[in-house]
Amino acid sequence: MRIEPTAPSCAVVIFGATGDLTRRKLLPALYRLTQQRLVPNEFVILGSGRQTLSDDEFRELMKNAIAEFGSDDALDEATWQSFAQHLFYLGGDFNDPALYPQLKSKLETLDAEFDTQSNRIFYLATAPEFFGPIAKQLGAAGISKPVRPSGKPAAKTKAWTRIIVEKPFGHDLASAQTLNKTLASVFDESQIYRIDHYLGKETVQNLLVFRFANSIFEPLWNRQYIDHVQITNAETIGVEGRGAYYEKAGALRDMIQNHVFQVTSLIAMEPPASLSANGVRDEKIKAMQSVRPLAADQIAEFVVRGQYGPGTVLGDTVPGYSQEPGVAPDSGTETFAALKLYLDDWRWSGVPFYLRSGKRLQKHVTEIAIQFKEVPQRLFTNADSPLQPNVLVIRIQPNEGISLRFAAKLPGQAMRIRSVNMDFRYGSSFGGKPPEAYERLLLDCMLGDSTLYARRDMVERGWEIVTPILEAWKNPPPDFPNYEAGSWGPQAAFELIERDGREWRKL
Ligand code: BG6
Repeated sequence: MRIEPTAPSCAVVIFGATGDLTRRKLLPALYRLTQQRLVPNEFVILGSGRQTLSDDEFRELMKNAIAEFGSDDALDEATWQSFAQHLFYLGGDFNDPALYPQLKSKLETLDAEFDTQSNRIFYLATAPEFFGPIAKQLGAAGISKPVRPSGKPAAKTKAWTRIIVEKPFGHDLASAQTLNKTLASVFDESQIYRIDHYLGKETVQNLLVFRFANSIFEPLWNRQYIDHVQITNAETIGVEGRGAYYEKAGALRDMIQNHVFQVTSLIAMEPPASLSANGVRDEKIKAMQSVRPLAADQIAEFVVRGQYGPGTVLGDTVPGYSQEPGVAPDSGTETFAALKLYLDDWRWSGVPFYLRSGKRLQKHVTEIAIQFKEVPQRLFTNADSPLQPNVLVIRIQPNEGISLRFAAKLPGQAMRIRSVNMDFRYGSSFGGKPPEAYERLLLDCMLGDSTLYARRDMVERGWEIVTPILEAWKNPPPDFPNYEAGSWGPQAAFELIERDGREWRKL
């Protein structure tokens, strides 16, 4: 638990420094941290990319990125001027071993100039094929392990070196294991930070607090009281120019295997013994280990895939997925996935978890709904509308908040019942906008806190769960596209839940 922590002195090296992620997320987040004085003056960012750029050219690019993608009040000239003094660039080919000795000596120079205490973060924001090669090269160049700040006696050095690995972390179990092995051959697990930006979202972090800092929910949080859980991740956007990447990913790899499973584990986990990184992560992985494996002949019953065709989203006419740039006209890639999972443990046995994620759906919303069982005694069957079970809804985004639906008597002479909501909204209770996930995650890495990063076993478990599905989906389905952009996904997704006598929440 921390109170307004400040990062220690350090250098952040970003591989992929001219790429989209750096421009959209990393630099705006690092800039915000500086603006809020959460990073010290002894701090430096060294961007590395294939383009040949001077430091000043790189600074100009980053300034534009912050202006375009930073928060509304982002760019003020004075903060920018001082921030820019901490930005540097080193061009080169990530596969070229010659780049790394240059990087080493550049870091030493910057260490000396900015007194960064030889603390280093290497951020892999490149295309995934470079993750392994860069890690190996860092090892070969002797910069993967903490170095001693020159002149300090060995016993006193507290210097650290960490590596942040972006997603996608592998494209299946075997490739994730290979990447984990490569990283482990160069870095210790405690140095490795696998990012899942959902864990940095304020509302996702609040799940632990909501469940374990309140005494009234935990006693109900089990199969005795809960009928089922629905997790919906709906986007209105399409693939946003990332067609080439998405063709190899699809909704199952892009969202379910990582973000949605992380959220699932936080809902399903037992209380951790402590809030230490491993205390929390041990319980999360335990929950995911109890996910019942799907046999090949169950896939059709438990999992649905979809791809959007043309349609209208939020009033705009949009093309189908297969007409997007970089996408094959006969693409078999899914832009929607829905699945039903069971966790065979004492808490959840028999409680289905329905998960769905899709692009170009009707509304942008990510939420978790905990649907409680119906009341056992039908005292109110004569009421004019059927009694609806209690639902606890945790809105991850947008309109961040939590609401609880319960039954209330409609004022009047008759016994009439209506469902009403108790509603908590972050905006009205706390004001302001929650910080961006990347700000929190970058700061955590600087502070050496890996609680909100994915551990090796969790990433591999995610892949293990989806492997039988990926295998069953090797052949493209004959019916793609099977949902209209702007709808709620394919008909089969409704059937998946309706077969069980339940329905998706109307959002
Ligand atoms: C990314 C996916 O990890 O998460 C994108 O690659 C997706 O396809 C994005 O759009 C969603 O993140 P958020 O924070 O906007 O819900």
